[in-house]
Amino acid sequence: MRVLVTGGAGFIGSHFVKRLVRGGHDVVVLDKLTYAGNPANLAGVEHELVVGDIADPEAVARAGAGCDAIVNFAAETHVDRSILGPKEFVHTDVLGTMCLLELARETGARYVQVSTDEVYGDLEAGCRAREDDPLRPSSPYSAAKAGGDLQVLAYVRTYGVNASITRGANTYGANQYPEKLVPLFVTNALEGQPLPVYGDGKQVREWLHAEDHCAGIELVLHEGAPGEIYNAGGEDHENLEVTYRILELTGADPSLIRHVEDRAGHDRRYAVDDAKLRALGWRPRHSFGETGLPETVDWYRENRAWWEPIKSGAYRAYYEEQYASRLKG
Ligand code: NAD
Ligand code: DAU
Repeated sequence: MRVLVTGGAGFIGSHFVKRLVRGGHDVVVLDKLTYAGNPANLAGVEHELVVGDIADPEAVARAGAGCDAIVNFAAETHVDRSILGPKEFVHTDVLGTMCLLELARETGARYVQVSTDEVYGDLEAGCRAREDDPLRPSSPYSAAKAGGDLQVLAYVRTYGVNASITRGANTYGANQYPEKLVPLFVTNALEGQPLPVYGDGKQVREWLHAEDHCAGIELVLHEGAPGEIYNAGGEDHENLEVTYRILELTGADPSLIRHVEDRAGHDRRYAVDDAKLRALGWRPRHSFGETGLPETVDWYRENRAWWEPIKSGAYRAYYEEQYASRLKG
């Protein structure tokens, strides 16, 4: 297959490109190379790169020519940035999705939308979201992702586009931009910097290795049914548990932990029922605490040349805006 992977220079997208190339597929990457896009993530991987915006129909047509399938990873993805400014999130995650759906409509390409468990909003202890549950997004990010999902479902029903949606849990692994919990706390711990835990740190997330997430997305690409949604869950842990495990694995001192002002609208708990994806044969291979997180910490320890340059320049300005007064307060 010739597959258009949008956002392929980002974290999960680059793992997916590597997986497709190993499987013998031809890959075209369409990526705007925002702060989160990094061609170094694809170094040594055979692919064609088109630098452009998924919300630009001309770039989309150029990149998508001759492709049998489109897998859309391209998005603004960080909840905290969406709270600072939602506009880019609507541009990419809603309008960009629509432009890619237009391509699928015109060419008949198979389409997979990479979405998120955050569209269900937060859940009471004991509940797990199923694919047909109502959407209750809390943040500008998750609202934009929910908007993208609704566009996909409308294009299936109205125009007969052959599209499916995946809704994955919190993903971790190598090459994740150091703004999300795991890479931020691992790199801060390695640098002896504070670990800013929002609120009481008792929020629960499901942790899913990037390679397991990509295996599920590829399965849906080949075996998923049009108009169907597939959840992909992980191992649930409280943020503080994850924080203490990172301290243990990096050898950093627990005094680095700072409880800071909470995220606005912060979801307490995500959890999904992923029986539908498992029924297609999906089984995650990585255990978060035993192998996945230790291997990820090792990767950051051994790849300072990848993340140290990122944590300067524009990153510093973002970090100051997000954390300076929190850490002082
Ligand atoms: P990321 O932020 O690491 O990468 C996003 C990529 O999209 C970057 O390469 C960026 O340059 C590109 N991009 C952004 N706007 C673009 C535009 N307008 N046109 C073209 N390219 C653009 O993201 P990630 O964490 O790898 O997430 C990938 C996808 O998976 C997203 O759709 C996200 O919503 C979804 N998802 C992420 C997680 C997670 O925990 N990271 C979990 C579930 C679902
Ligand atoms: O659930 C899937 C989602 O997971 C994806 O759709 C998003 O793209 C991805 O960013 C992630 O969203 P979260 O908001 O859950 O991830 P984040 O790493 O930002 O935060 C994880 C938890 O850690 C959350 O409860 C907030 C908390 N946190 C995060 C940061 C960055 C802190 O306590 N301190 C921090 O500095």
